[in-house]
Amino acid sequence: MSDPKKLFIRTYGCQMNVYDSERMAEALGADGYVETDSPDDADMILLNTCHIREKAAEKVYSELGRYKGLKADNPDLKIGVAGCVAQAEGEEIMRRQPMVDLVVGPQTYHRLPEMMKTVAEGQKALDTDFPEEDKFEHLPKRPLPNRNPTAFLTVQEGCDKFCAFCVVPYTRGAEVSRPVDRILREARDLVERGVKEITLLGQNVNAYHGAGADGDWTLARLIWALNDVDGLERIRFTTSHPNDMDDALIAAHGECEKLMPYLHLPVQSGSDKILKRMNRSHTAESYLKLIDRIREARPDILISGDFIVGFPEETDQDFEYTMSLIRAVQYGQAFSFKYSTRPGTPAAERAQVDDALASERLYRLQALITEQQRAVQNAMVGQEVGVLFEKPGRLDGQMVGKSDHLHAVHVTAEGIAKGDLRRVRITDSGPNSLGGVLIP
Ligand code: SAH
Ligand code: SF4
Ligand code: F3S
Repeated sequence: MSDPKKLFIRTYGCQMNVYDSERMAEALGADGYVETDSPDDADMILLNTCHIREKAAEKVYSELGRYKGLKADNPDLKIGVAGCVAQAEGEEIMRRQPMVDLVVGPQTYHRLPEMMKTVAEGQKALDTDFPEEDKFEHLPKRPLPNRNPTAFLTVQEGCDKFCAFCVVPYTRGAEVSRPVDRILREARDLVERGVKEITLLGQNVNAYHGAGADGDWTLARLIWALNDVDGLERIRFTTSHPNDMDDALIAAHGECEKLMPYLHLPVQSGSDKILKRMNRSHTAESYLKLIDRIREARPDILISGDFIVGFPEETDQDFEYTMSLIRAVQYGQAFSFKYSTRPGTPAAERAQVDDALASERLYRLQALITEQQRAVQNAMVGQEVGVLFEKPGRLDGQMVGKSDHLHAVHVTAEGIAKGDLRRVRITDSGPNSLGGVLIP
């Protein structure tokens, strides 16, 4: 038998891309490919790309440039571009980088094995459809055994919200939810492979409305059903839109034993004028009220967010409203970005904020977030939390895992294995992680 062909996948962007990369590796695995850690010895290089900001999209081209030498040394090397840049730019990618053999969008990667046949014949393959069929139903069953105790599970894709800055509704298409039974089946399969924690994914995961036996289910109902899956210990979900946080989902945070005390709830801005122009359809006040209700249900919940600074027409005053909102919330984690103009989105046409000014605002915002993050982390010292251990740490005998609140926690002790969920008392707080001791 000939050696298996080697596949190197590089993933950019959000967790949904991480999930898609795993599924693409599985689809190509059924076609005889095994994954390799380095592009140097690969027979196929696949970049799973992100289009969210200009820098993210441009990275693809600089990365492709690096593979020129490899392709020159090995003309049989195949190069593919998948993900949101593939969807947004399609053929343009092959025009800019003629060495690209294959371009596949996020909704058609179940067709990869077919496309590879075309590529093997020396032709180019391109597929950026939004097909009728459900790609998940055409992908191979997820193989045993799993490498990690944690896994992502995409339950919802696409977005109908059309925030004025965002490409997702164009690259991922309309909002679609996967049916309940298939999600539960995939979750049980993952648990059989040793998975203890599942993070449900969707661009708008809390807008989930998948078909169940008795009509559409909400995300809260899906979470309660997963709560009953034996062997599954932890449930998380991301990313949520403030407008889709319904009462049942808020209540679940207080009542559902396996649902972890962490919520990523992007707000983008604290100025109502900007929020309106962003087409976010919530206000700063409605967001703050929502946070209060969530904290009433689950007082120790860690709140995480996303922010954009320098959105068109953002004034100093608008930015100060954002800073006030941050002070009011006390974030345990946040991702913040300078606004990036995305061609084809409504905001691209508007008056842009001076770049240096936007950088200065971002700097101030990030300093405030870091301060809050540290405070939230430091407040964990002395507390008892659950930690799901994932890998060895740098020190001898040390293991690293994630706490209930998604903090990285280091523990040095004998007898901790990957996949163990243990009670830990937090003893110290470093710049990016916590340290603790096992509770006997
Ligand atoms: N569906 C998610 C987020 C998708 S994109 C949500 O609605 O929250 C992840 C984050 O990237 C967004 O929350 C936003 O903060 C940021 N983002 C999206 N488009 C952007 C742009 N054009 N410039 C800068 N940041 C952007
Ligand atoms: Fe983009 Fe807004 Fe949809 Fe999030 S809700 S994916 S930011 S359009
Ligand atoms: Fe990027 Fe596409 Fe995710 S644009 S953030 S990879 S949905």
